[in-house]
Amino acid sequence: MTATKGLEGIVAAASSISSIIDGVLTYRGINIDELAEQASFEEVAYLLWYGKLPTKQQLDGLKAQLSEHAQLPAEVIAGLKLYPKGSNSMAALRTAVSSLALYDDAANDMSREANLLKAIKLQAKLPTVVAAFARIREGKEPVAPKKGVGIAHNFLYMLTGEEPAAVAVEAMDKALVLHADHELNASTFASRVTVATLSDIYSGVTSAIGALKGPLHGGANEAVMVMLDDIGSLANVEPYIQNKLNNKEKVMGFGHRVYKNGDPRAKHLMQMSRQLGELKGDMTLYEMSVKIEDLVTGQKGLKPNVDFYSASCYTMLGIPRDLFTPIFAISRVSGWTAHILEQYEDNRLIRPRAEYVGPVGQHYVPVGKRG
Ligand code: ACO
Repeated sequence: MTATKGLEGIVAAASSISSIIDGVLTYRGINIDELAEQASFEEVAYLLWYGKLPTKQQLDGLKAQLSEHAQLPAEVIAGLKLYPKGSNSMAALRTAVSSLALYDDAANDMSREANLLKAIKLQAKLPTVVAAFARIREGKEPVAPKKGVGIAHNFLYMLTGEEPAAVAVEAMDKALVLHADHELNASTFASRVTVATLSDIYSGVTSAIGALKGPLHGGANEAVMVMLDDIGSLANVEPYIQNKLNNKEKVMGFGHRVYKNGDPRAKHLMQMSRQLGELKGDMTLYEMSVKIEDLVTGQKGLKPNVDFYSASCYTMLGIPRDLFTPIFAISRVSGWTAHILEQYEDNRLIRPRAEYVGPVGQHYVPVGKRG
């Protein structure tokens, strides 16, 4: 038995939700480029859960369900108020989502119908949790979700308490579409491993949030913004990045386990970053990002991934950088729950083996005789 470090190249599940073939990403067989240009996030969530695009009536039905379940239990809001003010935003999200199970009588109902409804409830509630956390830590009251608007609109509204601009809603919606699913990425795999023990959907999503938090996965978008803030100006890009490359340090937002010729989502976010810069009349972040890309791609051949341009986009939308990864979760919960439902449909415990590389033939030594 020989271990494959990072499970690279190992096919660990059969799935009909999303595919990455020859560098092309599809959701249920539809190219992500078409969805990014034309679909709303709610349509994409429906597509991931049900396997096909909704009719108008089905879409209206889903939107009504998402509205109905967007409120948080009062106990979860009370819990958010108890978290230390400086809590890590992903740790807060992970804790709050785990606690949602305590207030759902159907948390352990394993029927498909109940699990599908829980997927919708989780999708409805995650944006409310993130917005409420962001306000509570600033000493503000959470803003109740609004009826009759989509998730992107509602999230921006709950975050600021103000009606968001149409362009901001459009940008946020597209970002949600682009992040919704991505085959067997680390967090999705974590969710499938958890529920393959026949544990509940809340446990699966809580595991996924824990996995998404890390800077090698979803946490990279925040790390990119930390880097952009550190660099500070266009003139400082070259010495800063050159220094990182010379020291063989990773540049966040570049590289990917699966894509070696570029992440197909990145071009949409790059375009969005440019457009938001133009609208703001400040191209600094966009131009710094392009210059970083030129240097890293030019010297290392590494292309930007989904996290790279999303950092400048979210900043130009006025979002604090530690909410970038929670926003990723707001979108990816659609994919996680679709994968969890798929796992339950044809479940087998996920339990690989390890290649043992430790000592052999050892013996127990009583504590008093250990050196
Ligand atoms: N900057 C500089 N060098 C890099 C980078 C980078 N961002 N990414 C990979 N490399 C180099 C590595 O140092 C390594 O070089 P070596 O062979 O000389 O040691 C080589 O490329 C292979 O890198 P690995 O880390 O082994 O590749 P792996 O497939 O395990 O990792 C990963 C992929 C984690 C995405 C990696 O490219 C990385 O750390 N990128 C930065 C973090 C990031 O942006 N993560 C978000 C990914 S997208 C997402 O999860 C949503």
